This record gives sequence, structure tokens and C-alpha cells, in this order.
Amino acid sequence: MALRDVFMSLSENQLLNGMAQKYGLRMGAQSVVAGTTIPEVVETIKELNKANISCTVDNLGEFVFEKSAATAAKANILEVIQAIHDENLDAHISLKPSQLGQDIDIDFCYENLKEIVSVAHGYGIFVNFDMENYARLQSSFDLLEKLHVEYDNVGTVIQAYFFESEANIEKYKNFRLRIVKGAYKENPDVAYQSKEDIDEAYLRLIEQHLLIGKFTSIATHDHNVINHVKKFVKDNNIPNDKFEFQMLYGFRKEMQYDLAKEGYNFCTYLPFGNDWYGYFMRRLAERPQNLALVSKQVFTK
Ligand code: FDA
Repeated sequence: MALRDVFMSLSENQLLNGMAQKYGLRMGAQSVVAGTTIPEVVETIKELNKANISCTVDNLGEFVFEKSAATAAKANILEVIQAIHDENLDAHISLKPSQLGQDIDIDFCYENLKEIVSVAHGYGIFVNFDMENYARLQSSFDLLEKLHVEYDNVGTVIQAYFFESEANIEKYKNFRLRIVKGAYKENPDVAYQSKEDIDEAYLRLIEQHLLIGKFTSIATHDHNVINHVKKFVKDNNIPNDKFEFQMLYGFRKEMQYDLAKEGYNFCTYLPFGNDWYGYFMRRLAERPQNLALVSKQVFTK
């Protein structure tokens, strides 16, 4: 089994997830998770805002199979929205529909999402739906489309590895979109498998959405992609206010600050909370070098 597959299957292990929640941030996760409480995440946002970096806040949560857990997740997200408003922070929300009950009852999930999006709308705060695995793709788009009829402060993610993503960019061209390579293990029937194919598709999709003219978030740590985009926007006269770069908290920190200093819109994705385990395992799966984060913590304890 490849190392990537080992970490992907660990990311789906509910027993280990439960233990991780019980014992708090461990194994180096504190390098890539911005704390477990709202005051901690607020402090981090303030620091990043000082450097002209905006933030998207992800209240971590997976394996939600009970309505009570989804209701608790909604309450937490609403608290974050309130804090963003009260503290006048340059930040928005990232959430996963599965956290709000997508796998339990779709109408219940819709009502939870609607409450969040409506409160955020009142404060002028944007809400982005992260995209998870293929099984949840269409139902996430459906939820989003339904909300978009009433609220314009919602957008989502397009994953480059799916064959259908080019068609989806066209279909959802009225949305603000974050474009990523894709983080889950998907079937060859629906998704490219090789790094070359995914990287090629990724550039095609970014260019497609930038040319449409809707706001594009280019979420990657890949310097080759970033350099390509810098040249593409220049050659096509795409102004800086039509796109931003995004990276995850704790990764390529210097490059994050440099891009902001160069005058590009930059947004750091800030995961926080006790439910860090699956997120952390997926980061190890996509880049085993991230194990350095783990060993460094082990050796510096
Ligand atoms: P990739 O991992 O392919 O690396 C390409 C090259 O970049 C490497 O070979 C190396 O040279 C360099 N590099 C990468 N990381 C580096 C590091 N830490 N230090 C030094 N060099 C490095 N996925 C998903 O399915 N749904 C989602 O909603 C999201 N959301 C999301 C938000 C944000 C803000 C980000 C950054 C990413 C996501 N993702 C995601 C994850 C995404 O799909 C993808 O799995 C990871 O970003 C990894 O791919 P990259 O494009 O970063 O580069």
C-alpha cells in the first residue's frame, strides 16, 4: 500500500478520530491547525490581517451522523461569524455540508446551511462550501444552487481531478469559485489519477474561470501554478481584484507573506477546533514530506 493510501485510510478511521478529539492537538497538528478555540483563531486572524492577508475559517468537523452533532457544528459556525463581525476581521467562512447533516437528512442540512448563510449575509460575510468526495458532489451543488436563489454570499470549490469539472465551471459560472487540485481518493471512472493529468486540468480550469471574469480563488502551494497564473493574468489584463491566491495555514508561510507584499490578494485557510484528525491525515497523504511536521514535534517536545 502506498504511503498516500495509508494516510487516506487513517483519515477515515473514526476510532482514531475520537481519540484525537479526546487528547487535543497532537502529533504536530498544532503547526497546521490554528488552535481549538474561537479566541485563539481570532488572534491568528488579527496577526494575518496586519500583513494584509485575509482568512477563511474552517470550524473542523467530520463523521457527523447525528443531528445533535450537526446542530452543535452550526452553533459553532454562527459563533465564528459573530466574532468576525464583532472584531471587524477580514475573514469569511469555509464549511463542509457533511458537517451540517448532508449525510443524515438533506432538508435538515439545507435549513442549517440557510441559517448560517442568512446570518452571514446580514453581516456581509461570504460563505464557501468546501467540496468533499465524489459521492457528495452533486448534492453539494444542489444545496448551493438552492441557496443562491436568495443569497449571493455563497460559493464553492471545483476539484481539477474530476472529468466533469470543466462542464461544472461553465454551469456554475455565476459563482465565486475556489479552484483546487482535489484531496480525496477518487475512482478512475470519474477522476484523473496521474499528477500530470491533474496539473494540466488544474491550469485549464483556472484559466477558464479567470476568463469568465467572476472572482477566482487559486488554492495551491504549487509555485509553478502560482508563477503561471501571475503571467496569465498579466498577459490577459485580468485585474488583481478578480482573483486571490489561497494556501492552508502553516504551509509555505514565507511565500504567503511574500505574495501579499507583492500586492496580490492573499487568503489563508484557517482550520481550527478539536476535530483536527481527518484534516491532518489528508495533509500527510497529499505530501508525505509533511511528516517533517510530525517528526519535528516529536523531537522538540
Ligand atoms: P501539490 O501537493 O500538488 O504540490 C505541487 C508542488 O508544489 C510540489 O511538488 C512541491 O514542489 C510544491 N509544494 C507543495 N506543497 C509544498 C510545501 N508545503 N512546501 C514546499 N513546497 C511545496 N481539496 C478538496 O478536495 N476540497 C477542498 O475544498 C479543498 N480546499 C482547499 C483550500 C485551500 C486553501 C487549499 C490550499 C487546498 C484545498 N484543497 C481542497 C486541497 C487541494 O485539493 C490539494 O489536495 C492540496 O492543496 C495539494 O495540492 P497543491 O496544489 O497545494 O500542490
